[in-house]
Amino acid sequence: MSKPQQYIDEHKDQFIEELFELLRIPSISTDPSRKNDIQQAAGFLKDKLEELDLNRVEVFETPGNPIVYGEHCPYDDRPTVLIYGHYDVQPSDPDDLWDSPPFEPTIKDGLIYARGASDDKGQAYTHVKALEAYVKTGQDIPVNIKLILEGEEEIGSPNLVPFIEDHKNMLSCDMILISDTAMFAEDQPSITYGLRGLAYMEIEVVGPNRDLHSGVYGGAVENPANVLCEIISKLKDDNGRIQIPGFYDDVQDLTEEEREAYKKLPFDEQAYKESLDIDAVHGEEGYSTLERASARPSLDVNGIWGGYQGEGAKTVLPSKASAKVSMRLVPDQNPNEVAELFKTHVESLAPDTVKVTVSAHHGGFASVTDLSFYGLKAGAKAFRDIYDKEVLFSREGGSIPIVADFKRVLGAESILMGFGLTSNTIHSPNENFSLKDFHRGIKTSARFLELLPDFS
Ligand code: BES
Ligand code: MN
Ligand code: MN
Repeated sequence: MSKPQQYIDEHKDQFIEELFELLRIPSISTDPSRKNDIQQAAGFLKDKLEELDLNRVEVFETPGNPIVYGEHCPYDDRPTVLIYGHYDVQPSDPDDLWDSPPFEPTIKDGLIYARGASDDKGQAYTHVKALEAYVKTGQDIPVNIKLILEGEEEIGSPNLVPFIEDHKNMLSCDMILISDTAMFAEDQPSITYGLRGLAYMEIEVVGPNRDLHSGVYGGAVENPANVLCEIISKLKDDNGRIQIPGFYDDVQDLTEEEREAYKKLPFDEQAYKESLDIDAVHGEEGYSTLERASARPSLDVNGIWGGYQGEGAKTVLPSKASAKVSMRLVPDQNPNEVAELFKTHVESLAPDTVKVTVSAHHGGFASVTDLSFYGLKAGAKAFRDIYDKEVLFSREGGSIPIVADFKRVLGAESILMGFGLTSNTIHSPNENFSLKDFHRGIKTSARFLELLPDFS
């Protein structure tokens, strides 16, 4: 076994302790009261990078959260890998559904439970420790490395996009390496070659100037909550087709080869249903569950409110009702154009008895990595060597919009080398990451860097 691989085995427990330290910091990017925690998480990572004797380590302040950057590029004739990860996390709520506190990492049955354990602190940290394994064993890191760790991924990377545009030269690279996705199944390594894009909208329906007695006014005055439901019910038909005019215009259809490849993936629909306690799956007619969840666009209400929400019954006709709606997009849909189509359509569905306002939150483009890219081949071999199993290539339904920006601005493909699992319940209570995958992730990253020069 190589010295770095041996080092990783010997420092397993220390790496876990360090990750715990990072997981204890509630660096929730959407919550303005967590600014100090964001600073602390960025500082923690900067300190860890400084221990690596890189050529350069710097924290870039932005109008939002800092970007932690490191660089070590001694070679003229070897590839440059830009490693990307995010240290911000989603809010932990609902906290009462966690079996252990979200920011007190706890190990149970081989899993680390904490917000950010998988998304993305645990996964991002694998690469930092892989680099350490080279540096601390006196071995040269085998390729040029640039590392970029941001603190705003969960809010749509508003400051990273301009940052990469302004630092094109500094960030120039041959590929991006990202661990922020899931493997196809436990012990089944996979490389994600496609991600969906996103358009996130909010609808507000306003009716009378105050909540009204539902007996005194009900039936005579339009109810904004009813209107909102009517609008939403018209956004998809019974076959799961989205009804917004023009929505599918730019959708890139799956090729026959792709559909054949989907069929070969070892997907167990029964187990999928059981894991979710549902009796049946549901989606766009004519497509399989895997296709629906990764290569076809979708539209979903993410939150809906209005009227009385408390205990018991209050007879009231709400003056307002709102919903948040996300659309997952596929190549070549443009999130801004889709947002515009959505707005126009929802407004056209609104009766003149209410006022309807439609606004857009963050969005992003979908991405697909070219399967012939040599970096993927090195990634596949690294996975095979460490997991002792052949890699699968699959697309996923989640979004990492910066992947498309990296491609557009830096011209580089991304290798999505996820070590997570769908059972990690990211964004939900009891988020977890397996100790085994944290360890194998570090080893796979180190192996990848070692293999890469031979593949380029
Ligand atoms: N790591 C996830 C994206 C992801 C999850 C990709 C699972 C593939 C599989 C990322 O942190 C995330 O949550 N992204 C957001 C989008 C962002 C713009 C808020 C998402 O997908 O909702
Ligand atoms: Mn993530
Ligand atoms: Mn996330």
